[in-house]
Amino acid sequence: MNGAACEGKNDSGTVIPRPTKDFVYFMRKLSFSDRVFFDTEPNSLSRFLERLRRENREVLDLTESNPAKAGFRFSLDTLREGMLQDPVTDYAPHPRGLPEAREAITAYYRDRGVRVDPDAVYCTSGTSEAYAMLFKLLGDPGDEILVPVPSYPLIEYLVSFESLHCGQFYLRYQRGSGWRVDRDFLDTTCFERAKALVVVHPNNPTGSYLSADDRRYLIDFCAQRGMALIVDEVFHDYCFLETRPSSFLAEEPGCLTFVLNGFSKTLCLPQVKLSWYVIAGPSDLKREAQSRLDILHDYYLSVNTLIQVAAPILVGKRK
Ligand SMILES: Cc1ncc(COP(=O)(O)O)c(C=O)c1O
Repeated sequence: MNGAACEGKNDSGTVIPRPTKDFVYFMRKLSFSDRVFFDTEPNSLSRFLERLRRENREVLDLTESNPAKAGFRFSLDTLREGMLQDPVTDYAPHPRGLPEAREAITAYYRDRGVRVDPDAVYCTSGTSEAYAMLFKLLGDPGDEILVPVPSYPLIEYLVSFESLHCGQFYLRYQRGSGWRVDRDFLDTTCFERAKALVVVHPNNPTGSYLSADDRRYLIDFCAQRGMALIVDEVFHDYCFLETRPSSFLAEEPGCLTFVLNGFSKTLCLPQVKLSWYVIAGPSDLKREAQSRLDILHDYYLSVNTLIQVAAPILVGKRK
């Protein structure tokens, strides 16, 4: 140690040397945020999969949710046509996304009989970014976001990246009625700092849509507790039932609601990176949320202009 620059006394009166600045720099070890601490050991399923692949065994991966790897191809001509639009030499970004992109998104909903106001649409570069924006809007560090079990595992990570806690609620399989929300659990558990509840409609990996009954229950649950509802509808088009259960946007919900979707699954184009969320619910809450989201989005402006300009052509030809 290179001497003490000045000295101090601790509580018992012992003189303790104050380290020099150089010494402090020498001793301090750079540390990283706990938010990005990962257990990178492969789990038993990954190890098993790796072994099968090493042995050149054929594997049918039912967890594959990348359409490009599942044999879906969007028309190359349409992609080219979309990408060669004129205004791409301009840069006139809008925090919610370019008006033509938001109009195209409302056309997607119109096709399915749902009216959406383009001013309620916020474009993002992916669904993960949409989640991140909403978690920033809704929670302070330590607040809680309720996520369903079983569901899309990525959500828990996205929650913790925003220094929020992940609370869980359960979907239970019932013979005859399928996957239902465990209401007893929600009704009897105290969630002191819960700010939002997430549902995936239809859910990944169960493929189940929420019943009309469970939807009403969750909307009331959130409205009564001052929580927002975040609904991931990225797989909404993929319905194997005779009638597709409606989007949460089909009616104005009674709580502040954000409905997520994107080209990743609706057009089978995860590589073009255009997703969005639509804000719905009581108008005073919407207004308040939008005034904050406009500023938040303005600091990122992350969606590529090329894809936004191409959006009307891509949506128009999606069928
Ligand atoms: C439920 C769910 N939400 C979101 C995503 C990711 O979508 P994006 O490519 O828009 O980030 C996936 C990906 O498989 C998913 O399963």
